[in-house]
Amino acid sequence: DEAVRGTCEDASVCKRFAVSVGYWKDPYIQYFVRQAKERKAPEINRGKLEQGWGHHSCYYARVHGVSYLIKAFLEKTECNCQVINLGAGMDTLFWRLKDENLLPRKYFEVDFPMIVARKIHNIKSKPPLSKPIMESHSGDSLLIDSHSLDSSRYSILGADLRCSADLEEKLRKHGLDGHLPTLLVAECVLVYMTPQQSANLLRWAASTFPVAMVINYEQVKAKGHF
Ligand SMILES: C[S@@+](CC[C@H](N)C(=O)[O-])C[C@H]1O[C@@H](n2cnc3c(N)ncnc32)[C@H](O)[C@@H]1O
Repeated sequence: DEAVRGTCEDASVCKRFAVSVGYWKDPYIQYFVRQAKERKAPEINRGKLEQGWGHHSCYYARVHGVSYLIKAFLEKTECNCQVINLGAGMDTLFWRLKDENLLPRKYFEVDFPMIVARKIHNIKSKPPLSKPIMESHSGDSLLIDSHSLDSSRYSILGADLRCSADLEEKLRKHGLDGHLPTLLVAECVLVYMTPQQSANLLRWAASTFPVAMVINYEQVKAKGHF
């Protein structure tokens, strides 16, 4: 699991680098990850050409493709929906959607507890990350400890995606609504589980949400040299 958790760093360092050279705009990634020149874990660089730019153009396609589909879902449901980002790592989509006035009723993020603890630490210590959460929060005081944060519109929790019973229990504690149209996002996550484990996760989603869509982006031939 430690190597799998390491892919969170790989993804965010690569995204930050692509942002720094102008592939897309993300004012928030800088608060989650140090600046780096280059990096590479074989699977994460799926589609990499020998030339450096090819690698980042694949990230461009990945980030744009995923956010294009998410926005289409939000527009179709007029934001009366929930989004569950599975294996979200240091993803910044919540903050970018808030800037575009496109927040769903609730945006959930799930990752291993250690990754979640790191993300919460960044959120707590960096006002550009914590302010949007506070601004979109209403009602009772916001729940926050080292492994979970629950506000009205944004929630992050530590769970192992290979155990859907535990995942569901934690999501429900954070206000998951089984009746809302639900968008599940898995961006470069299922590839780190066995086919059986990801099938179980998708089966859980299919039996839990009457109206749901899944956006999945995965690397293929992850063990190959490319
Ligand atoms: C390659 S990173 C992608 C992160 C993010 N989705 C992105 O695209 O920037 C894979 C993420 O999935 C998480 N992950 C993989 N297997 C998991 C599991 N069984 N339970 C919880 N999180 C998992 C890792 O910790 C890591 O943050």
